[in-house]
Amino acid sequence: MRILAKDISSLVTVSGENNKPRKGKLLNEIGEIKNGALYFDEKILWVGTTTEAEIKLQNGEIKPDKIVSLKNKTILPGFVDSHTHLVFAGDRSEEFSKRIAGATYQQIANEGGGIISTVTAVRNSTENELFENSCKYLESAIRYGTIAFEIKSGYGLDTKNEIKMLKVIERLSKEFPVYIVPTFLGAHDIPPEYKFYPDEYIKLICDEMLPRVSELGLAKYCDCFVDKGYYTIEQAKKIFDTALKFGLKIRMHADELADVGAAEFAATIGAVSADHLLFVSDKSIQALKNSATIATLLPGTSYFIRMPYAPAKKLIENDIPIALATDFNPGSCFTENMQIILSLAVINLGLNCEQAIVASTINGAHSLELNDKIGSLEIGKDATFIVFDCKNYLEIFYHFGVNNVEMVWINGKRFW
Ligand code: NIG
Ligand code: FE
Repeated sequence: MRILAKDISSLVTVSGENNKPRKGKLLNEIGEIKNGALYFDEKILWVGTTTEAEIKLQNGEIKPDKIVSLKNKTILPGFVDSHTHLVFAGDRSEEFSKRIAGATYQQIANEGGGIISTVTAVRNSTENELFENSCKYLESAIRYGTIAFEIKSGYGLDTKNEIKMLKVIERLSKEFPVYIVPTFLGAHDIPPEYKFYPDEYIKLICDEMLPRVSELGLAKYCDCFVDKGYYTIEQAKKIFDTALKFGLKIRMHADELADVGAAEFAATIGAVSADHLLFVSDKSIQALKNSATIATLLPGTSYFIRMPYAPAKKLIENDIPIALATDFNPGSCFTENMQIILSLAVINLGLNCEQAIVASTINGAHSLELNDKIGSLEIGKDATFIVFDCKNYLEIFYHFGVNNVEMVWINGKRFW
């Protein structure tokens, strides 16, 4: 069915120079069309103003089966959440309660909580239980406007349970019409049974897990938590070198808890994305500047575990492309809502609204290498977009803490 949506008060296309992740001034260009019109079937057939659309209607250049008027509405390409841990089991509300009483994320982890408590819950869950739990969050995230996801394993930490998680991710991608990109994060933490033999665990990742994951085609990327108290650069290098041999690309949890030079390492090893960067050093910023690595910022985590915010403005001034994502997980950031992340990005990271939109749409799409399909509303791309009950895009930020999404359209069909 061909549909013409017209009278769109604020049609944010993010069209333009999209062959590379946006940086510098290009982060400000959202390609807004006021009183816009969008003509689509499963793909976008044409984009312009309502006046132009009416002329095309009259002279028969476009022949829609249906015309809808979206006065006082705003359309965006849909958010790309390029860093999530959406598949998990159990809950860590007790930990949360300790944290609001003053305990730190690291103290809780040192006492046996943190990632390891979710590992226990995941190991004790069946694939079906994990799947059901994940469906709930995935559907919720879509209702908040996310149309593409990266989802990591990393709560199994043994071959059987890591594969179980990746199979759940595969199943989600079959059952939902959104894009889901799987990442193997066997190196999220050291599992308790290897606590005193970390190198043995790294050997298991390299000799058993990665070959198996690759053989089953269950992951596109390999991630590692390179940080104080987790993996060292030297350990991560062994894992990444093996991952590259097996055809997986690299993304990295880098310098979230301390500066360990992880971002510089990400840049030099050719990671697609270096994420968190709360403590990124000037030296690492220089390395990122001279690389193709995207800096993925996760302000929800800084907020939720009361940590400093990444130096977003400095990264932008240094011409580094940035993306925004949730880091959705039960410990350090329990929200699947990208609208909250955009709000935190403008209030606490210091981005402007346009930069936040570009970082959460086309740059997220670049980070997942889906930029030829999603991230902007241009002819030939998927007819996947979000209708907000907002008179203009600023209102998405201005009216915060509510769900401004009115409709989600995926490949030309209304999801919600
Ligand atoms: O991105 N940093 C490592 N992993 C997650 C936290 C996961 C958890 O606490 O369960 C993060 O913050
Ligand atoms: Fe994370």
